Amino acid sequence: MGRLEGKVALITGGAGGIGAATAQLFCEEGAAVALVDLEGPALGEAAARIRGQVAGAQVLEIAADVGNEPAAADIVARVLAGLGALDVLVNLAGIRSYEPLAEAKAQTWQKILAVNLLSYAYLAREALPALRQSGRGAIVNVSSTHAVNPRVGMGQYDVTKAGILSMTRTLAFEEAPNRVRVNAVCPGLTLTPFHVRRAMQAGRTENDLRTEQVDHNLQRRWADAREVAFPILWLASDEASFVTASTVMVDGGTRV
Ligand SMILES: NC(=O)c1ccc[n+]([C@@H]2O[C@H](COP(=O)([O-])OP(=O)(O)OC[C@H]3O[C@@H](n4cnc5c(N)ncnc54)[C@H](O)[C@@H]3O)[C@@H](O)[C@H]2O)c1
Repeated sequence: MGRLEGKVALITGGAGGIGAATAQLFCEEGAAVALVDLEGPALGEAAARIRGQVAGAQVLEIAADVGNEPAAADIVARVLAGLGALDVLVNLAGIRSYEPLAEAKAQTWQKILAVNLLSYAYLAREALPALRQSGRGAIVNVSSTHAVNPRVGMGQYDVTKAGILSMTRTLAFEEAPNRVRVNAVCPGLTLTPFHVRRAMQAGRTENDLRTEQVDHNLQRRWADAREVAFPILWLASDEASFVTASTVMVDGGTRV
């Protein structure tokens, strides 16, 4: 029996590195997975890769912008119509912004709040009736080590990631009577296509990232996306049945 056998999971940001790795692991563990992403072609590629790697994988592709409030109800309706139930919501879609707080514009604030924070709230709200009905519903919100480890230059992003932790705890308290668990994962530096693309723009290679010594975590390296996917899997599974309102740091012991 897989660790998510018979469950249906919805993962936003499913075309990205951590999202796609999580989706593949969920499929390996027996879940049917709905993958949501803004980037249609990348979403198609991620879904095809999973189907190629996991025999019998059930993957529903939903191209949507989670930054639009009405999209949340539509996404959940499509999951229920396509897969018949919803047991696990993984909120993971995210964008970054590099303005120092002293220069942060209203437009970038609104965009990053809409995608990184409000999409988590709206999708949780729309998914909750089905998650309650599941009887073993779980929400896993993907935050960041920088929710609690401040740094210079990405304040808007870090604020949204801190907000996710607060939302996670409050929702866990509110939904405990309905047997819906709500937890957060805080990844540290994780080697995903996003970071590889940025490195290449700066004249570096994926191998440079893989072999460089990272100074600000105890493991002194980047994580692989699958190393972040495993804690998400655990929190989503019944193995974590007594775990709620928790934050799991998956950051190699980051100390910025
Ligand atoms: N990679 C890291 O080092 C790291 C560290 C800490 C936290 N995180 C968080 O983990 C998550 C995944 O990061 P990643 O590096 O794997 O890849 P990423 O940031 O490229 O993935 C995010 C995915 O979300 C999608 N997305 C963005 N805006 C969207 C929207 N409006 N609607 C629907 N989809 C949208 C993107 O297309 C992308 O596929 C993000 O929330 C990120 O903040 C990543």
